Amino acid sequence: MGTMRALAVLALVGLVAIAAMAGYRRFAWPPGERQTLAEQARLGARIAAAHCAACHGPKGNSADPRVPKLAGQRASYLNGQLTDFRDGRRASTVMAPVVATLSVRGMREVAAYFADQSIQPDPRDQPALRAEGKALFWSGIVAQGLQSCSACHEARTVPAEIPGFRAGMGAMRGMDMMRVQGPNLFGQHAAYTISQLRAFADGKRPGMVMARVAASMTPRERRAVADYLASAP
Ligand code: HEC
Ligand code: HEC
Repeated sequence: MGTMRALAVLALVGLVAIAAMAGYRRFAWPPGERQTLAEQARLGARIAAAHCAACHGPKGNSADPRVPKLAGQRASYLNGQLTDFRDGRRASTVMAPVVATLSVRGMREVAAYFADQSIQPDPRDQPALRAEGKALFWSGIVAQGLQSCSACHEARTVPAEIPGFRAGMGAMRGMDMMRVQGPNLFGQHAAYTISQLRAFADGKRPGMVMARVAASMTPRERRAVADYLASAP
């Protein structure tokens, strides 16, 4: 009987946790403002051309390796970063004045526009480090207690030759909502990825999980994983 009660309590705690997470993710449209994704993207295209294209490229594939590519990134992530720049949670002397000119609705629209574009990976030029970076991304480094990046960062198709890769909870049906979903990293400029890992490690960009992950990586490991990602998949 004791066990049954304990199980019932556990189940309840689980349900409450799931409900809390679902609530966190639910987005309520302000009255009269409901837009379809296609509408958002169409309106966002104008904002992108006027305010973002000069640095991020007309379709979100920036030419400057220090400026992130936005093409194909999840809209909710882009929108979240824009809000963080606006509220000063993520410091950037470049992006702060840009977002100051955007409305809440404008942020949503421009995020939808960039999410709708396709990312163009960089050319492959660092074969040695790429292999090291690939192993790190998919399998982590057990000896250093470094978790695989793929556990949280969009693991599209698992390459067949990855040794010791085990699909995490996210691979189980119905467990997707329990997974931390990090942004897509594939195709991003290596210089930008390295700069962000450094910012997380130095506490200059907020992110509890990433601060721990980045701080446990050597500069060589950061470069290796960044090189792999820039030209992947
Ligand atoms: C003057 C150049 C410039 C302009 C204009 C600009 N950006 Fe940026 N953007 C940057 C730079 C540089 C960064 C990297 C900031 C950092 O160091 O963290 C960035 C970062 C971002 C990020 C974070 C991306 C990520 O992967 O975390 C988003 C989202 C973004 N910009 C969206 C926009 C949007 C939308 C516009 C137009 C409304 C815009 N930017 C206009 C230069 C620019
Ligand atoms: C437990 C989950 C988790 C793991 C493991 C993880 N990340 Fe992240 N990562 C996140 C989350 C969540 C964010 C978004 C943080 C935010 O909202 O600013 C993020 C953000 C990032 C960014 C910023 C991307 C951008 O566009 O600005 C980079 C780069 C990154 N992670 C690289 C890595 C690498 C490399 C590894 C493996 C060594 C890794 N992450 C492992 C959860 C994770």
